[in-house]
Amino acid sequence: MCGIVGYVGKRDATPLLLDGLKRLEYRGYDSGGIAVHTPDGIQIRKCMGRLTELEKDLTANALIGRPGIGHTRWATHGEPSQRNSHPHQAGAGEVIVVHNGIIENYQELKEQLRSAGHEFLSDTDTEVIPHLIQQELADGAASPDAAIRQALKKARGAYALGILFKDDPDKVYAARLGSPLIVGLGEDETFIASDVPAIVNQIQNVIYLNDGEIAILSPEGVAIQNLAGESIEPEIKPVDIAPEAAEMAGFETFMMKEIHEQPRVLRSLLEKHVDREDTVIVPEIGFSTDYFQQLRRIMIVSCGTAYHAAMYGKFLLEHLTGLAVETDLGSEFRYRSPRIESDTLFVAVSQSGETADTLASLRLAREKDCKVLSICNVPGSSLVRESDSVLFTEAGPEIGVASTKAYTAQLMAFGLLAIHIGRARGEISEETEQQLMKALRAVPNAIHYMLERADDIQAIADKHHDGPSALYLGRRFNYPTALEGALKNKEISYQHAEGYAAGEMKHGPIALINEYLPVICICTQTEDEVYEKMISNMKEVEARHGRIIAVATDGDKVVADFAEDIIYVPPIHEEFSPIVNVVALQLLAYYAAQARGTDIDKPRNLAKSVTVE
Ligand code: M6R
Repeated sequence: MCGIVGYVGKRDATPLLLDGLKRLEYRGYDSGGIAVHTPDGIQIRKCMGRLTELEKDLTANALIGRPGIGHTRWATHGEPSQRNSHPHQAGAGEVIVVHNGIIENYQELKEQLRSAGHEFLSDTDTEVIPHLIQQELADGAASPDAAIRQALKKARGAYALGILFKDDPDKVYAARLGSPLIVGLGEDETFIASDVPAIVNQIQNVIYLNDGEIAILSPEGVAIQNLAGESIEPEIKPVDIAPEAAEMAGFETFMMKEIHEQPRVLRSLLEKHVDREDTVIVPEIGFSTDYFQQLRRIMIVSCGTAYHAAMYGKFLLEHLTGLAVETDLGSEFRYRSPRIESDTLFVAVSQSGETADTLASLRLAREKDCKVLSICNVPGSSLVRESDSVLFTEAGPEIGVASTKAYTAQLMAFGLLAIHIGRARGEISEETEQQLMKALRAVPNAIHYMLERADDIQAIADKHHDGPSALYLGRRFNYPTALEGALKNKEISYQHAEGYAAGEMKHGPIALINEYLPVICICTQTEDEVYEKMISNMKEVEARHGRIIAVATDGDKVVADFAEDIIYVPPIHEEFSPIVNVVALQLLAYYAAQARGTDIDKPRNLAKSVTVE
């Protein structure tokens, strides 16, 4: 939540900061602000609302200078308002700060600082940081970085910080603990940003800051130190994202672009992980056949959409590996007393690799001596760095707040993982592996056909979008698909939606059904053993005059008898049908949102990366 950016170099900072913030706006969009060293001293501009407001203000009244820092906010402490927007400052602009994260002991620090004469102007936790640093300077800290180090030793919580000092006009200081922050290296200029895509068009190399590190960006380059003041030799990595990957490429939204990227993303994931003999190859996982044979249990933890991927992973892993597999939400797992031991493989699933609850759960698993495997989309993220091994989803930057391509890539990753472990444990034969791989290979083309049917799905969304609610039903592998379809719908169209295991309908939600309620029923796979059960559930809906929208396989002759509308999907192997079916539901939610006129890429109240508890 919140995006930060900073620039040191010879160019004017303002347009670069604005450009970076626009690319980070998916992280928060209730207010924005920048601070720039100008010939008249540091100046700050902030605006409530979207960055277009800040841009208008800066166009009307230019802010010329360098270096500078900027922020786009997703409110945690203090309502979205002008006075709560970042940057925050202490004194007469002596120290100016932008922050992503939460300072947990800010109340206590505020009281201490107040008694030392500091005045606070906002309701934010962030504001204590510039005051703490200012106090350290007043108490005789030898340098700005010494003041930062002393101040940060007093703060508890998570932070990515960009800091300007009135009396040190050439530099930007940055610090990281628990919230993402990178240093970007261009030609004779340096940046900080919450992620690489924010500045991908400006830099060639990147330094992923570690927790507890401070970066000092100056015209001479970058120096990194730890909280003890010891200098650290950074690992410089080339940027491996193409600048176009963070652009809309002619689509009307990032979400639509990302929906359309799915066949390509999945195809290349397969190419990377399957050899000519149709054997899964995942050398990066690094665990031996012996390890998988000794393994007793898998625990998968994640949040939101990634949790739905985890549920699918559980069904598939149980089905193909014979292991006991459990899933939990990060926010629940971390407060349980989970019975996990060294014979448990802990799998964390996250697009961003920065989700606070998933990370906290991972750390708990580490304390219990579990090996940790992450399924993640962002190289250099905290999750990646804290895992024993990583299966990258390699979906490229996902900028739409509603996850699409990262989800289907997570499902595909679980497909590969389950086949690999199943083989290692001798639960599936070579022949079965080849059959499964053939089925998995059919997925990208099937999604491609789905995308060609987008107009049919739009017509259905146009018809059903205006009701107050919708119910999504699925079974077995497609139970998580129902949950994910409902989540997509509520996230971007704001229509209330419930996902349910179809067999559970008669235990409660059936009371909701009347002639107005759209009930989206996923009943693909006529060969599937739960197909007939699904048909019975649909009959129950029909008997109560619910409006059935069926997701059914091409050629299905049964559902047409009682479904009001049908989204046809190409035939696909039962186990992998969720990877295709969910695309129909992504499009259904998308067109419903379009008809309801919402801001699809930046739905209200949401942020892409939930780095707070
Ligand atoms: O980055 P992560 O995958 O860990 O994020 C988890 C959730 O916050 C995320 O999936 C969220 O539910 C999305 N907005 C769903 O579209």
